[in-house]
Amino acid sequence: MKYEVILPAAGSGKRMGAGENKLFLKLNGIPILIHTLNVFQEDQDCSGIWLAAKPEEQDDIRSLLDEYGITKVKSIETGGDERQHSVQACVKVVEGTDIVLVHDAARPFIHKEVISRLADEADRSGAAVAGVRAKDTMKLVEDGVIQETVNRENLWIIQTPQAFKSSVLKEAEERAEADGFLGTDEAMLVERLGHPVTIVESTYDNIKMTTVDDLIFGEAIIKSRQE
Ligand code: CTP
Ligand code: MG
Repeated sequence: MKYEVILPAAGSGKRMGAGENKLFLKLNGIPILIHTLNVFQEDQDCSGIWLAAKPEEQDDIRSLLDEYGITKVKSIETGGDERQHSVQACVKVVEGTDIVLVHDAARPFIHKEVISRLADEADRSGAAVAGVRAKDTMKLVEDGVIQETVNRENLWIIQTPQAFKSSVLKEAEERAEADGFLGTDEAMLVERLGHPVTIVESTYDNIKMTTVDDLIFGEAIIKSRQE
């Protein structure tokens, strides 16, 4: 199933604490952003990439695209203060296919096979997100005291990509913008419409580069894939 992908890359990487956008940090000598872009550059089903970036970083990004031969980027939009606003900027202009994926630029290890299942599922049901089953015992805590042990069977950790029929994503974003609603992912905006969102089981190695520990895990994942 052909798709277009939106990659929000306009964050600051505060939790990484590198003093710069974490996407420029290197894993195995290559910037994290390029690792992620390469997945989609190499995927035959991806017909175009839409990036959101800070205005002051767009020139550096364009240089990296040239250097690493990334040719599928159709547009670099100006990101906003919140991730949702960065995604929104791209949703407003994306075109090309009926299926649109949103994927954190900070998740370089997504498998092509998961992307493919997400795009197929979005085509069938309108909205699908990548997730993995919770592994640990999960408890609801308030003010440092356990309120309840939650049934783990029903708990999923949600990742990106999140895949949608373009019309569903556009409606969800428009409604959120009109209502001033801020969600933590695109699925939340679609859930608000009363539209079902399906889970597609992903892999535990689809980590988001968030803190310095993730750089160590990231290097290990690359090494394991080279073996
Ligand atoms: N992002 C974005 N625009 C923002 C905030 C985040 O495009 N205003 C992007 C990030 O670049 C990243 C993805 O959304 O690819 C996921 O966000 P996150 O992991 O939170 O990255 P940062 O916001 O950069 O990190 P932090 O929250 O630690 O500052
Ligand atoms: Mg953030």
